[in-house]
Amino acid sequence: MRISVFGLGYVGCVTAACLAKDGHRVLGVDVTPSKVVRFGRGLPTVVEPRLDALLRRGYRARRLSATADARAAVLATDVSIICVGTPSRRDGSLDLSAVRETAETIGRALTAKTSRHLVILRSTVPPGTAESIILPALGIDGAPTERRIGFVVVPEFLREGTAIADYYHPSFVLVGSADGQPDGNARTVAELFNSTRGPLTWVPYREAEMLKSVCNVFHALKVAFANEIGTLCAALSIDGHALMERFVTDRKLNLSAAYLRPGLPFGGSCLPKDLRMVLHLSNRENCDLPVLRAVMGSNESHLLRTVERITDCGGRRVALDGLAFKSGTDDLRESPLVRIAEHLLGKGYDLKIYDPAVEASRLTGANRQYIEERVPHLSSRLVTTLDELLDRIDVLVVARHRAELLERVARLGRPPRVVDLAGPVPGVEIVVDAVSKPRYPHAVAASAPAPVNLEGA
Ligand SMILES: NC(=O)c1ccc[n+]([C@@H]2O[C@H](COP(=O)([O-])OP(=O)(O)OC[C@H]3O[C@@H](n4cnc5c(N)ncnc54)[C@H](O)[C@@H]3O)[C@@H](O)[C@H]2O)c1
Repeated sequence: MRISVFGLGYVGCVTAACLAKDGHRVLGVDVTPSKVVRFGRGLPTVVEPRLDALLRRGYRARRLSATADARAAVLATDVSIICVGTPSRRDGSLDLSAVRETAETIGRALTAKTSRHLVILRSTVPPGTAESIILPALGIDGAPTERRIGFVVVPEFLREGTAIADYYHPSFVLVGSADGQPDGNARTVAELFNSTRGPLTWVPYREAEMLKSVCNVFHALKVAFANEIGTLCAALSIDGHALMERFVTDRKLNLSAAYLRPGLPFGGSCLPKDLRMVLHLSNRENCDLPVLRAVMGSNESHLLRTVERITDCGGRRVALDGLAFKSGTDDLRESPLVRIAEHLLGKGYDLKIYDPAVEASRLTGANRQYIEERVPHLSSRLVTTLDELLDRIDVLVVARHRAELLERVARLGRPPRVVDLAGPVPGVEIVVDAVSKPRYPHAVAASAPAPVNLEGA
């Protein structure tokens, strides 16, 4: 394929070299004349292991060339890949002027072209950029049926220093399209990335744009976490390196999908208690650990947000599905659902609660003392069946029995508003459009996606 690569920095130069290695003819474009000259001679514009050799090979095979003439580059190629810089502005936003300028230049050039052309955005951008900047600049509406000009977002995940290996072995190749489905560009995209080992994963534009940054934010969080643990360990005469070496060997809970779904705040008998203990130690040792210090506050904010989502629904009769800190247990200690229930009762809501494990525990006496002494105001609100829970309510808060509850709600003549804390609605598509937030087009679902994050120790 004939490909123009816009921006010959770390991402553009590596992308161009790898595409040439894969047999494509690549025309590099940059606004910096020295980069155009170097790249045009098969020389790297950045320092990166193995890049020199790859470029040399591509150059000798006559697959690499460069130009400063963006319009000519578009007219001479079938695909344009945007890899220009998106640096931080002072206020933290990204400076998208190079992305905008490049897309507009490509858009203008495409008006003079009749053959099909695919534009790929590889730069890191905030969600909404494709819809608000790139599609208008290219003069297309993004509909999957658009035939002459195609556009997809394919964020780059390479790391400098291991860029070529990362290019060929990404965890996934994320492809953003208008509706998140493979569209008319699928064949070209597959051909371009068929030498990379990661699976092609099609998602809506915004998810592709956002996920790239979310990955980097998580990496930053991990570094800060490891450094804070290392600092505290040093103060306690513990070898933090050895400790973290062992920490990362736990692939079941530590380095895994566990605890990584949006849902309820954390709670239970262990997570809050142990976090408080570690913070106490850090105070005692005069170690400032801002990330760990912020965790409890974040959890508290999330709890209040969750209460607001319920009260924003408007009705006064609320049904709460679950009370213990996670399903399958009657443990009520520091359960976020207990806190939510108490907030609602405190505000005068008419509350019903369904939690068979807590109810059984109350009846058998196993945990009766705790329930009667610590949460008598809640135990009187327990109902024993889902039918009772759903009877004459305005709002249903789903945390546990979502499939069963949503199915029952769908059959009701006058369904309550549903605050879904337990996950996306099965079989219901999440719609993302240009201006609004992702939303469920379901009559009863009124809230955020993904499973509950209740598992404690
Ligand atoms: N560097 C990384 O490790 C990395 C990894 C993944 C993603 N990214 C993202 O990829 C994008 C590019 O990053 P980079 O590190 O390669 O940036 P860079 O600054 O090294 O390169 C950007 C290049 O774009 C050129 N440019 C600017 N305006 C242009 C225009 N209008 N037309 C053509 N060229 C233009 C610049 O001259 C420069 O050579 C950024 O959004 C970045 O966040 C970077």
